[in-house]
Amino acid sequence: MLVALVTGGTSGIGLAIAARLAEEGYRTYITSAHSPIIGERLERERKNFIYRRADVTEEQEMRQVLAEIESVEGGLDVLVNNAGYTEVIAHRDLEAATDEVWDRVMSTNLMGTWWTSRAARSALAKREGVIINISSIAGLRATGSSLPYAVSKAAVNHLTVLLAASIGDKIRVNAIAPGLVDTPWTKDWEEIRANVSAKAPLKRSAKPEDIAEVAWGIINAKYMTGQVVVVDGGLTLKHR
Ligand SMILES: NC(=O)c1ccc[n+]([C@@H]2O[C@H](COP(=O)([O-])OP(=O)(O)OC[C@H]3O[C@@H](n4cnc5c(N)ncnc54)[C@H](OP(=O)(O)O)[C@@H]3O)[C@@H](O)[C@H]2O)c1
Repeated sequence: MLVALVTGGTSGIGLAIAARLAEEGYRTYITSAHSPIIGERLERERKNFIYRRADVTEEQEMRQVLAEIESVEGGLDVLVNNAGYTEVIAHRDLEAATDEVWDRVMSTNLMGTWWTSRAARSALAKREGVIINISSIAGLRATGSSLPYAVSKAAVNHLTVLLAASIGDKIRVNAIAPGLVDTPWTKDWEEIRANVSAKAPLKRSAKPEDIAEVAWGIINAKYMTGQVVVVDGGLTLKHR
């Protein structure tokens, strides 16, 4: 059976990608750090879902999940590094971007992606697997909810390119850089949503399913690696 792991699979984009993979017949492992009750309910209620509580900022917890997958399933076909964290801080407010904020943002978004990818390498190599990193247009443009967040996503983009170049003979590595997506994370961002609807050529923010569709495309695009795919309804065409 085909097997996938989606970090941060209990909500938003991660849940939509996990749902798509489960529907397509993948045995789909999802993880989260702070929502075990939701995760266990998803495991009970949805076909092909398996939940494990694991924090991407704790390398050992991710190694444990990947060791289980490799021994029970024999390998891993798809890894989606989706778990993320931010705080909304104006970029010009340098004092508000404290070391604590930097630490949490970088250890979740960048190091979490790194630790999980490293732990998954052996299982993915057994199946000519694919890694999809969920980045952001904040990693490509002078924008985003906070300066540490934008820097973390720029680092994820470069990690994507470097991993594709270094372990690409066995594992494809790509990233998706969404614009604004309607998830619990952005539920209060009404002004930004209105701005996106006014300015983006496609005249709306994304649904999580729009991102899942691109993830599915990447999984099936077997000759594609090292790419950061912008999925923003055309927003950044107007703000280069
Ligand atoms: N929404 C957007 O507009 C947007 C745009 C561009 C990029 N993104 C990226 O898309 C990804 C998902 O965002 P979303 O909007 O879907 O947010 P969301 O609905 O808040 O979901 C975030 C998920 O990440 C999990 N998570 C957070 N910290 C974690 C940790 N330390 N270990 C494991 N899981 C953790 C959360 O679970 P727990 O907190 O319960 O553990 C939750 O399942 C993020 O990487 C984000 O940067 C989002």
